[in-house]
Amino acid sequence: METIRRTKIADLLKRRDFGAQVCAKGWVRTRRGSKQVSFIALNDGSTINNVQIVVDLAQFNEELLKHITTGACLSVEGELVESLGSGQACEIQARKIEVLGTCDNSYPLQKKGHSLEFLREIAHLRPRTNTFGAVFRLRHHMAMAIHTFFHERGFFYFHTPIITASDAEGAGQMFQVTTLDMNQPPRNEDGSINYDEDFFASPANLTVSGQLEGELAATSLGAIYTFGPTFRAENSNTPRHLAEFWMIEPEVAFNDIVDNMNLAEDFIKYCVKWALDNCADDIKFLNDMFDKGLIERLEGVLKEEFIRLPYTEGVKILEEAVRNGHKFEFPVFWGADLASEHERYLVEEHFKRPVILTDYPKEIKAFYMKQNEDEKTVRAMDVLFPKIGEIIGGSEREADYEKLYKRIEELGIPMKDMWWYLDTRKFGTCPHAGFGLGFERLLLFVTGMSNIRDVIPFPRTPRSANF
Ligand code: 4AD
Ligand code: MG
Repeated sequence: METIRRTKIADLLKRRDFGAQVCAKGWVRTRRGSKQVSFIALNDGSTINNVQIVVDLAQFNEELLKHITTGACLSVEGELVESLGSGQACEIQARKIEVLGTCDNSYPLQKKGHSLEFLREIAHLRPRTNTFGAVFRLRHHMAMAIHTFFHERGFFYFHTPIITASDAEGAGQMFQVTTLDMNQPPRNEDGSINYDEDFFASPANLTVSGQLEGELAATSLGAIYTFGPTFRAENSNTPRHLAEFWMIEPEVAFNDIVDNMNLAEDFIKYCVKWALDNCADDIKFLNDMFDKGLIERLEGVLKEEFIRLPYTEGVKILEEAVRNGHKFEFPVFWGADLASEHERYLVEEHFKRPVILTDYPKEIKAFYMKQNEDEKTVRAMDVLFPKIGEIIGGSEREADYEKLYKRIEELGIPMKDMWWYLDTRKFGTCPHAGFGLGFERLLLFVTGMSNIRDVIPFPRTPRSANF
């Protein structure tokens, strides 16, 4: 018998040419039935939906049937038939079944309804579940949306380094990269480590942001974006922090803070709309399983204009809430770095829609932000989202060489690390602005998942780098 080319299940389920001979390959999700007939739900990852395989047991040998267990990998050929059962339009009446891979009964995904915590311990297998299939398909779609958004607007995708000797955010929470022997590092006469013998002949780290190099590109190519992994060794064990996360950082010459806010708002709305348009099945599943308000929240964001508000006004609202008896865990006062409970109060309780806070105190923001005339605040902007808090952080950049130089000095950032960055302000400086979107924070929003560990295939967090 001639072999038939495999069709992906996503495509099979759309077909109505009943009677056609088809081939599907995938993993058994469930098998049920009677002594005469088995119904196999087969999934190949192309869609959240399974194709039902109907097996007339009398036509197959027992040895083969024994191996059709949950998790086993099958190749099935047969006739595409109209399904009489509810829930699917078509199914396959099996004519030939090959077990490509058996699956023994130690397979941990036998039953439905494992906790997300348990599934994190088997992160190597969790993409086989409906939930993580949906999440990782959405992850792909968001990446495509991001590249398309910027490409359509004439931005260039620019690759900034992963290994760097500079600390863009001045946060000092970097992972060091070295080939020195940790047990016996070469030392200088004063006992300090002799980095001249290290691979790069200087201390090096994993990047916390591609922004500074992105600015070099924006002030030459005009409009660029980065999209890559970033690393932060902050010991924050929260549902919103990862030690390794992906960030998208557009940077645009001649944009001011208002252009920057417009870009951020358009960008997020574009991504959310893409998800609703292209991932309806997966979003519906996540909505029904985990978060009954998901679809409504996604549609809500598209409809509403984001609130734009100076930090100082935001703090007034929070102080007023405290006076009216609202309890926050962390104190609010002008100058405080807002905690996610404060951000979420503004978004979820007060305005009931996304908020862009601007003009933060300079002490709590990075050195490169444009200084306002009040000498107290900088042209920063954070985009705050329901359920998440900060999803984007950005600013207009300080374009003035003298002001920037002075700020770097004030903060004690070593000038020897900054000369190349300062060159942008020396050689044809221009106003420019940009921001960073945390890719996994966006995914938290579009999937409705509540822990950031569940929107990246292999999460890296304090004390955990498995798989
Ligand atoms: O606000 P951040 O630190 O801004 C920057 O890195 C700037 N260089 C961006 C720029 O202007 N080009 O980080 C940007 C975003 C945050 O708003 C958040 O969404 C995400 O990155 N983020 C994290 N996501 C997951 N885990 C972490 N530890 C994160 N830290 C920041
Ligand atoms: Mg930030």
